Amino acid sequence: MKNISKKKKVFITGQIPEIAMNILRGKKYDVKVYNKDTTITKADLLKSIKDVDAVISLLSDRFDSKIIDEMKECKIISNYAVGYNNIDVEYAKNKGIIVTNTPDVLTDSTADLAITLALACARRIMEGDKLVRSKKFQGWKPRLLLGIELKNKNFGIIGSGRIGTAVALRAKAFGSNIIYYSRSKKAELELKTGAKKVTFNKLLTVSDFISINLPLNEKTYHLLNKERLRLIKRTGILINTARGEIVDEKELINLLKKRKIFAAGFDVYENEPDINPELFNLDNVVLLPHIGSATEDTRNAMAELVAKNVINVLEGKKPLTPV
Ligand code: NAP
Ligand code: GLV
Ligand code: GLV
Repeated sequence: MKNISKKKKVFITGQIPEIAMNILRGKKYDVKVYNKDTTITKADLLKSIKDVDAVISLLSDRFDSKIIDEMKECKIISNYAVGYNNIDVEYAKNKGIIVTNTPDVLTDSTADLAITLALACARRIMEGDKLVRSKKFQGWKPRLLLGIELKNKNFGIIGSGRIGTAVALRAKAFGSNIIYYSRSKKAELELKTGAKKVTFNKLLTVSDFISINLPLNEKTYHLLNKERLRLIKRTGILINTARGEIVDEKELINLLKKRKIFAAGFDVYENEPDINPELFNLDNVVLLPHIGSATEDTRNAMAELVAKNVINVLEGKKPLTPV
């Protein structure tokens, strides 16, 4: 006789917090985790997903049509990230696979990091730290490492969703005037920060600080192209905690080299994890390894959410956060 109570199989492509495994094992699912500390290779991914009912994926895993075609039993790809540009969502949907992400729980940690980068660029933190470590600090000087402050400056938000709004709230607390670019009017953002909606080119032209908080898709790829990057003020600071591909990184490096932009803060890169080596030679950049959501609290909350999305779908209920 057919075993109708067959254990559901869940594959997790990386080492996310234990809380996810505990929740899933509590449901008696058969949970397998890719336990190496490297991004899973396409070959290993192909081998691992063939007969699973659910996959918990990382943003560094590419789920293209070729991979999805092999996921014959799969009902859900539960992405351990809010961004889902690593997944061909349309293709998955056509195959009857639900895709979920982790919105909200990482908004504050990522907004904190955007402000950290803004302040680090503005106050030349990397240069200061380097000076002290190289034993060149000779005492207080009136003109040592003069920077820029946020008070009374124009702080431009590109992509005013959850994280963009949280960044704006923080910048407002520092005394900045908030302006934003979005396709729709953001009533809550305007109410809470007095933000004004402006055109894209206006935002680039008048902002002292610019924070990119867009999703990556065909419409936002290189949205900050050569021509638009050249609109940024000489004293402007550009922060990207969204996705590297939204910016023409080569041109940005060119402008930073020529000091046509004051500084830039990177948490994400165009060819991540490969870094354009020219960036290493610049002292007006801050370079972080994609750690926007990297706090204990946030990563635990993300783990709980990816697990709950899997359970809901495997139990035939609505997922909590479908994309
Ligand atoms: P969200 O709430 O969806 O916000 C994105 C906003 O972008 C939306 O409100 C949308 O507003 C706007 N937008 C979308 N397409 C646009 C376009 N073509 N032109 C102009 N505006 C557009 O997403 P979120 O939760 O804030 O996350 C934003 C992104 O941050 C994620 O997609 C992810 O890539 C990135 N992220 C990075 C980290 C990290 O570790 N560095 C952590 C978390 C998230 P309108 O529709 O009104 O235009
Ligand atoms: C991180 O980059 C995310 O999209 O959650
Ligand atoms: C600086 O240290 C000051 O006291 O102004």
